[in-house]
Amino acid sequence: KNIKIIEVKSEIGAGTRGASLGVEAIKIAALDFMSNFFVHFPTESVETENRLLFEPIESPYAKRIKGTYTMYERVSKAVCDTVKANWFPVVLSGDHSTAGATIAGLKIARPKAKLGVIWIDAHADLHTPYTTPSGNMHGMPLAVSIAEDNKDHMVHEVDDNTVRMWNALKNIGKIAPKVLPEDIVFISLRDYEKEEEHLIKKHGMKVITTGEVRRKGAESVARSIFRYLSDCEYIYVSFDVDSLDASISRGTGTPVSNGLREREAEDLISKFMQHRKICCFEITEVNPTLDRENLMAEIAFNILQRSVNVLMMN
Ligand code: ARG
Ligand code: MN
Ligand code: MN
Ligand code: MN
Repeated sequence: KNIKIIEVKSEIGAGTRGASLGVEAIKIAALDFMSNFFVHFPTESVETENRLLFEPIESPYAKRIKGTYTMYERVSKAVCDTVKANWFPVVLSGDHSTAGATIAGLKIARPKAKLGVIWIDAHADLHTPYTTPSGNMHGMPLAVSIAEDNKDHMVHEVDDNTVRMWNALKNIGKIAPKVLPEDIVFISLRDYEKEEEHLIKKHGMKVITTGEVRRKGAESVARSIFRYLSDCEYIYVSFDVDSLDASISRGTGTPVSNGLREREAEDLISKFMQHRKICCFEITEVNPTLDRENLMAEIAFNILQRSVNVLMMN
């Protein structure tokens, strides 16, 4: 596969500042390991809307949603063009909100193909403006992708402008939903709200726990996921570094205990990358301002490097 790196140094979707520095921190990790990894691949840098961080928030239940929409347009186009030009996009992003745009780009590139998603994350990112506990858009990308409002479990009323932007997000590329809930697999999910749990139950979404990964091992877990997603033609892997255990994921905005070990994540992801259906890989939520010794970025870089090596052999 011909790899192209798409970097998205956006952090407007996160509640904690610093994730926009994650991409540079991963490059610094490469330099510290004396690796020339980044020399080998063309890189496209998507312009951000991070100046909005200095402006007042207009929509408390979907913070900076206008900027998020602008990011969705840019990121989905970059991903779509990359796929259409027969490159394999490796997306390095700041906060996880733009993963909904990555999914949009993949879907827009091949509207007829059924897309599956492997979501490696402590969180479900299935909130909507009607249910969000934080208003942070990085808690919403999968709800955007499955075009879910979850109004049955509405927690608060949402103003008309926010509703308009939310609907625009879901319908970007004029395809909604982009993925079916049954075609999403969560790995190491362990920190979610009851509104998200309702959606997971309602749609019968597949969840693989940290314990299952530990017991069954990478090979067996990967095999069962590809069997589960066997009617999908392409599969996208989204790796939120907070899927890793809090003991090693200090350098991310929302660390959670009972997560994966570095080796478990690395083995699992490199198994995924061997599969012919894998069409895109994203690493997100590295925040070096919270870290010591750039550890999170070093782990992310190790996983990136091994994954890309596997991709290039396939
Ligand atoms: N569920 C919480 C929220 O909506 C946390 C989401 C964290 N998401 C992430 N991509 N780190 O605020
Ligand atoms: Mn996430
Ligand atoms: Mn997360
Ligand atoms: Mn199916």
